Amino acid sequence: MEKIKVGILGATGSVGQKFIELLSGHPWFEIYELAASAKSAGKKYGDAVNWIMNSPLDEKIKNITVKVCEPGLESRLLFSALDSKVAGELETYFAQEGYCVISNARNHRFDPDVPLIIPEVNSEHLELLEKQNFGGGCIVTNPNCSTIGAVTAIKPMDDLFGVEELNVVTMQAVSGGGYPGVPSLDIVGNILPFIPGEEEKMETEPLKILGDFNGEKIIDAKIKISAQCNRVPVIDGHTETAQVKFKKKPRGVNELIDAINNFRGEPQKLNLPGAPERPLIYLDQPNAPQPRIHSGYGNGMSVVVGRLRECGLFDYKFVVLSHNTVRGAAGNTILIAELMKEKGILAKYLK
Ligand SMILES: NC(=O)c1ccc[n+]([C@@H]2O[C@H](COP(=O)([O-])OP(=O)(O)OC[C@H]3O[C@@H](n4cnc5c(N)ncnc54)[C@H](OP(=O)(O)O)[C@@H]3O)[C@@H](O)[C@H]2O)c1
Repeated sequence: MEKIKVGILGATGSVGQKFIELLSGHPWFEIYELAASAKSAGKKYGDAVNWIMNSPLDEKIKNITVKVCEPGLESRLLFSALDSKVAGELETYFAQEGYCVISNARNHRFDPDVPLIIPEVNSEHLELLEKQNFGGGCIVTNPNCSTIGAVTAIKPMDDLFGVEELNVVTMQAVSGGGYPGVPSLDIVGNILPFIPGEEEKMETEPLKILGDFNGEKIIDAKIKISAQCNRVPVIDGHTETAQVKFKKKPRGVNELIDAINNFRGEPQKLNLPGAPERPLIYLDQPNAPQPRIHSGYGNGMSVVVGRLRECGLFDYKFVVLSHNTVRGAAGNTILIAELMKEKGILAKYLK
């Protein structure tokens, strides 16, 4: 099978680099073009990037000349890791020129005709693309990195018992702020109790993701959410403590843990290359999950839950951990593309 050529917009940043790492050896997709700002364009990728991944940069990728983010790219499938200051306009422009853009940036997440997708949670929202009108192309978005962890964890509980209220406190890794991110003097031995815009995303994105598509538009889920977001001195892996109140009361902790462990989504049914065997993993140890130890589970694509117990204020509380640049960004995007290919949605944009 001939591989599908993909371009990465914002290829030099922290998420862009993760795309390159995850796409190495991908059975369906081949990195064909890399694009970034005018500062990087025209340089060999190896000279333009400050490579911060754990695996070495492939020689072939090193020698690709970075392009500007302008239509004219040959790859019709584009993964966007663009800075949100420029992503909105550039992604619209690419979609209008017929490209399929799957984005990590926040800009289009709330466009009524743009799906906001976690493949295991709301793959049916891809039907919204039929309502989209960007010319010949399309835009699909990835949720915020902390939203992905929290929503994946509550999805099986919501299906069974209906989540009514969610209170969540995040401890977010520094890689979530991009490269170079927050200055070391601000974060080493410290906690920053404010991440601009993050609480608003956490309080609104889950409503769209868990909402119902009625054939015309998405009707937001009715869940009351309160979020507090903190930056902590951890490199990768966002940890969140969550409390939930249900409409229907579960019989006990074990019913919820079983729901978590048995949860599978469309990517698992379709056996997609990037799908972890288990999108949610429950750990019994009383001191788990921990970002340094557990964020790589399922190659960074499994969301890990622990400490599920009764709560004196809400019904239950638990801890959730997800890898912010893999499941929270590049890995989730690649899984969306795989899902679109396997469901026959991608083909029309590749012509
Ligand atoms: N880091 C995470 O865990 C995470 C998780 C979920 C979502 N996101 C989102 O994903 C996106 C990328 O995040 P990141 O952490 O990788 O950020 P980053 O490290 O700051 O990288 C930003 C990228 O955008 C490019 N860029 C900046 N200005 C540009 C312009 N005018 N034209 C074209 N390209 C431009 C940069 O290229 P140059 O190097 O040439 O400047 C770089 O490649 C952001 O929207 C972010 O909010 C990040």
